[in-house]
Amino acid sequence: MEAEGTMPPQSLSAKFEGSFAYLTVRDRLPTILTKVVDTLHRNKDNFFKEYGEEGTEAEKRAISFLSKLRNELQTDKPVLALTDNAEDTQAWNEYMGRQQDLMENGQLVSWFKSPWLYVECYMYRRIQEALYMNPPMHNFDAFKEGKTQSYFESQQAIKSLCTYLQQLITNMENMTEIQLQENFLKLIQVSLWGNKCDLSISAGQDNSQKSSPIDSLPDLQRFILVDDSSMVWSTLVASQGFRSSGMKHARVDIILDNAGFELVTDLVLADFLISSGLAKQIRFHGKSIPWFVSDVTKQDFECTIKQTMAANHKWMSASGVQWKHFMKDGTWSYHDHPFWTLPHEFCDMPVDAADLYNTLQTSDLILFKGDLNYRKLTGDRKWEHTVRFDQALRGFQPAPLCSLRTLKADVQVGLQAGQAEKISSQDPDWMTNGKYAAIQFSSPHREQ
Ligand code: F6P
Ligand code: MG
Repeated sequence: MEAEGTMPPQSLSAKFEGSFAYLTVRDRLPTILTKVVDTLHRNKDNFFKEYGEEGTEAEKRAISFLSKLRNELQTDKPVLALTDNAEDTQAWNEYMGRQQDLMENGQLVSWFKSPWLYVECYMYRRIQEALYMNPPMHNFDAFKEGKTQSYFESQQAIKSLCTYLQQLITNMENMTEIQLQENFLKLIQVSLWGNKCDLSISAGQDNSQKSSPIDSLPDLQRFILVDDSSMVWSTLVASQGFRSSGMKHARVDIILDNAGFELVTDLVLADFLISSGLAKQIRFHGKSIPWFVSDVTKQDFECTIKQTMAANHKWMSASGVQWKHFMKDGTWSYHDHPFWTLPHEFCDMPVDAADLYNTLQTSDLILFKGDLNYRKLTGDRKWEHTVRFDQALRGFQPAPLCSLRTLKADVQVGLQAGQAEKISSQDPDWMTNGKYAAIQFSSPHREQ
């Protein structure tokens, strides 16, 4: 089921090079909508228990809203402005208006005649509209069950990762800088491969981590197409030596992606950064509404720490207790901002979310997790694969930044000449099958 592309509207950043990715995977979105409807339906007794008749009525109205939405999507109807009155409604409607203005001959923007990035984000925002418009359902997270399940199905891997972390922490004092670097590089790779476990690519099916994450690393190494992790290390340590006055005490910002196993890998990396002294502060950035099936919300973040603390496993619970402590004393903090759930490319951030951009500018290192963040970093264009990562960012450079992403969408820059052709001949689906990964770094201070 491929979408026939009529000309898509030019994006707000049309001044930049590259053409757009079209909506090619149409069938995944209705499947996700169907699952949301099923989830609401399955929870109908709970809504009744919690809110009485009012809950049952809200559930029915939300389901009818979502069924209508699925029909609009499947029959390529024009996209409709949002009618709720949330914090981001105006920003969404302005963006949609600007997209419409870019259409030629008065053609209306519809589901299949729009850039995929825009439409995919729009679908998740419309799901939220169905809930906002039907209180008391406005706080319901239809993806919550799947996220929790993914966490519990990855228990073995989480146990082994937490055990590894706690052993590292015990030996940290005696570690040489080289050993510290080796462990940093391992944990950044674990966080990278954690991104395999998102539920959006599998339309909500189990995608949890079963094997030991550290043991799997050597076999996965050859699937990393670009590895700038040594530059990330250099950003964290000053050249004259980390144990001496060279320590930078960095503030690291992690733009989170998925809950479940991926979030645990991010927390483990963040713990290592703090416990080793490589960073003094970590700011986590999550989503303010349920997003792309498995993305982290504040509730997921807090639940994950609580569940890890409560685990019946010595090293898991020790890790959870430590994380809770980091949150309490402000070493770690969680933040959300409506910009992360708008359809904008990140190069729009200085204008469309100046407050967020200013905050990121004061970071020493920003880690962007996952595929969707990569699409927004690069504007989701069909770039030549050899285009430099810096160039694809089109001016978005608040601070040194690094993308950690497994490939699930048709965009990949920063490859060597001939590299894409070679992988393509061995594995034609390399850009979307989640088997390959990239660690890509860019710094405003770096020589171009
Ligand atoms: O492949 C489906 C998809 O929804 C992509 O559109 C999106 O980029 C990806 O899944 C989400 O992946 P991640 O959780 O890594 O951002
Ligand atoms: Mg995600």
